[in-house]
Amino acid sequence: MEIIVVEKSPPLKGKIRVNGAKNSALPILAASLLGTEDIILEDVPKIKDVEIMCEVLRTLGAKVEILDEGIIKINAKNLDNYVTPYNLMNKMRASLLVMGPILARLGKAVCSQPGGCAIGTRPIDLHLKGFKALGAGVETEFGNINAHTDKLVGNKIYLDFPSVGATENIMMAATMAEGVTIIDNAAMEPEIVDLQNFLNKLGADIKGAGTSTIKIKGVKKLGGASHQIIPDRIEAGTFMVGAAITGGDVIVDNVITSHIKPVIAKLREVGVEVIENADSVRVIGTDKLKAIDVKTLPYPGFPTDMAAQFMALLTICEGSSVVIETVFENRFMHVDELKRMGADIKIDGKSAIVRGVDHLTGAPVKASDLRAGAALILAGMAADGTTEIENIHHIDRGYVDIEARLRSLGARVYRKTVE
Ligand code: EPZ
Repeated sequence: MEIIVVEKSPPLKGKIRVNGAKNSALPILAASLLGTEDIILEDVPKIKDVEIMCEVLRTLGAKVEILDEGIIKINAKNLDNYVTPYNLMNKMRASLLVMGPILARLGKAVCSQPGGCAIGTRPIDLHLKGFKALGAGVETEFGNINAHTDKLVGNKIYLDFPSVGATENIMMAATMAEGVTIIDNAAMEPEIVDLQNFLNKLGADIKGAGTSTIKIKGVKKLGGASHQIIPDRIEAGTFMVGAAITGGDVIVDNVITSHIKPVIAKLREVGVEVIENADSVRVIGTDKLKAIDVKTLPYPGFPTDMAAQFMALLTICEGSSVVIETVFENRFMHVDELKRMGADIKIDGKSAIVRGVDHLTGAPVKASDLRAGAALILAGMAADGTTEIENIHHIDRGYVDIEARLRSLGARVYRKTVE
């Protein structure tokens, strides 16, 4: 079994480049199933979830070639299968994102019902509501979701919650529906804008991504395109917190600063200096970190995917902070692990009260999900002694060689195989 070992690290110093965004690459890979000519994607992160998504595309009949570093070529002209196998669905819930494209291309899509995960039950009712609104029949039986239709017809769809995945799945399903589809209360994340830009390059006619109303005019057919994935705002935020928690001075390169406004704002409130440049930020830590409150919200609010990493920082901020998680119902799995490292945190429903401590101490801990794992690495760099992190497969799903990249900034982080 592999673990990640983290020792107390000196202030991080230097420059690090952010990879392409996992949460943009996954929907755009799924959307490639809509194309009937060659598609070239650049800056695709070399993470486990991308490998799984490529396997899903191949299972459905698409040709997928990994070219040079981060470049993937896809041709989905000959799609011949509309069933996403359980074993792949079970490995990665984002496989659900192929339903919209497959339904649009083949008029039928079968996906196994995704299970919940550490951060919540993660229902898919809004995805299915969208497919039904576009005219598809949808049944769930024997653990599968079967969607089918002779043709998809545009409609107005209101999302009860601005779900990222549901917005993406409905956008993709509607690209070739007859007539116009309007998604109201749509998610506004930058990854939705990246998906719109990619689909329009293929020949789709979509407007409004980035706002709460998206309008999709159905077209007959989609072709091919080249597209560069936007930078990963969550990876950027993770490295920024790494600089803050070690009192370092780091330039995080390849960022779109407008995508990370909430993280920049909250780091400044804590007392960290953040200098914004054209496509990078410089983060200069301080030893006078002060407690603040953080509330996660759908974009443009503070991202739920940054809450665990930020809480690691708050554990050593002077005073009491309150972190409120409003997006998922169970995203405090990292709290018990941080408490094993000496953090003083009390959970009360959707809120966690974090009282700053003088220092953390290293301990054996377990990653419960991708971002919780990242938080434990960050905490370990600040903690006295050694932290050993198990279940690091969660971390590998979303971060490429994170320990090597942090070591390039001076962090004492390495991977070790144990029995
Ligand atoms: C995407 O998940 C991201 N994953 C998540 O990132 C991210 O945390 C999340 O958006 C929120 O920003 C990918 O993009 C691959 P949602 P998604 O649908 O689409 C409820 C990471 O660490 N909901 O916006 O699954 C749901 O229960 C991952 O990179 C419904 O009720 O998120 C949740 O409470 C973790 N019905 C809320 O919406 C539905 O049909 C947000 O979920 C769908 C969602």
